[in-house]
Amino acid sequence: MTANQNLFLRNLWYYALPGGRLKPGAMVAKTLLGEPVLLARSKTGEVFALRDICPHRAVPLTCGRFDGDEVECCYHGWRFDSTGRCTAIPSLVEGQDLDLSRFRVKQYPVREVQGNIWIYMAADNASQPNMDIPLVPYFGGDRSYQLVETVHFPCYVDHAVVGLMDPAHGPFVHRAWWWRSGGKTLFEKAKSFEPLPYGFAMSKHTLLKKSHGYRLLGGGMPEVEIAFHLPSVRIEYITTGQHTVCNLTAVTPISETETEVNSTFYWTLPWLTLAKPILRPLVRAFINQDQALVAKQQEGLKHNPKLLLIKDADTQALWYYQLKTEFARAVAENRPFINPIKKQVLRWRS
Ligand code: FES
Ligand SMILES: [Fe+2]
Repeated sequence: MTANQNLFLRNLWYYALPGGRLKPGAMVAKTLLGEPVLLARSKTGEVFALRDICPHRAVPLTCGRFDGDEVECCYHGWRFDSTGRCTAIPSLVEGQDLDLSRFRVKQYPVREVQGNIWIYMAADNASQPNMDIPLVPYFGGDRSYQLVETVHFPCYVDHAVVGLMDPAHGPFVHRAWWWRSGGKTLFEKAKSFEPLPYGFAMSKHTLLKKSHGYRLLGGGMPEVEIAFHLPSVRIEYITTGQHTVCNLTAVTPISETETEVNSTFYWTLPWLTLAKPILRPLVRAFINQDQALVAKQQEGLKHNPKLLLIKDADTQALWYYQLKTEFARAVAENRPFINPIKKQVLRWRS
């Protein structure tokens, strides 16, 4: 299935890959927003991304070789540097002076921050990144994640995003003794939200009750802030004064029907680093609960039903759609984005 370009928001930074999965001198093939992309890290450590199609006869460049400096196509050995410039065509003989710069592979802007590799997916060649990459608070730009889990959801990006930001599904989908006491008890919540440049945030607030998970952080009552940034990044910040934990979960469309979810964790607790072998399966189980739900949802979605959004539990989902619509319009009309979200308190039970 070829992805329809209009299906995905453009002119935004998308999460491409956890940096630790790309060693110096290695390259990987990935489909992102329906496009074949080669991601590579030079032997000196810089990451670059090229369209994974040889301009000669369309063989994926990732089928060839990478010497840590240049990529060589496996079909006729054409070579390309990290900017996508053709540097060699082995079949040429003395006197065949071709202008190699005519044979270019598209280069994508990429950045590596906080251990994550981001790629800018432009609407056209003229568009250049002019927005910041979402960062987790408290931790510096050079600090990498301590834990990352990657899960593929069998759905279009919107269902993964809406599922991950949905405040009302927790007690039904994520039942686990270690996460929360009280079983089926639902609590009434009232949280303040505010607009961000390209999203919105549940404003920083102090929790009134400490669940099991938070008790491990020591210190006082936890302060929490949860932000959402276009296209699909959720950042949760929790601090007790004594310790801080952040989670960045990014949702990247692979195709119309497949979406990748990367969840990264940053923390200040040394013992948590030692507990990673225990923590990893818990994190994975948690994300898999969302994934299993999305898979069930696909059964119903096959019949193209009309979906409901109810106040206030689905207001964040509604905001997501509003942000998307406005962003797509702003790009199409070549004008600045105007955030449609206003400061507001949302109430729900969960
Ligand atoms: S197809 Fe790549 S060099 Fe010919
Ligand atoms: Fe969930």
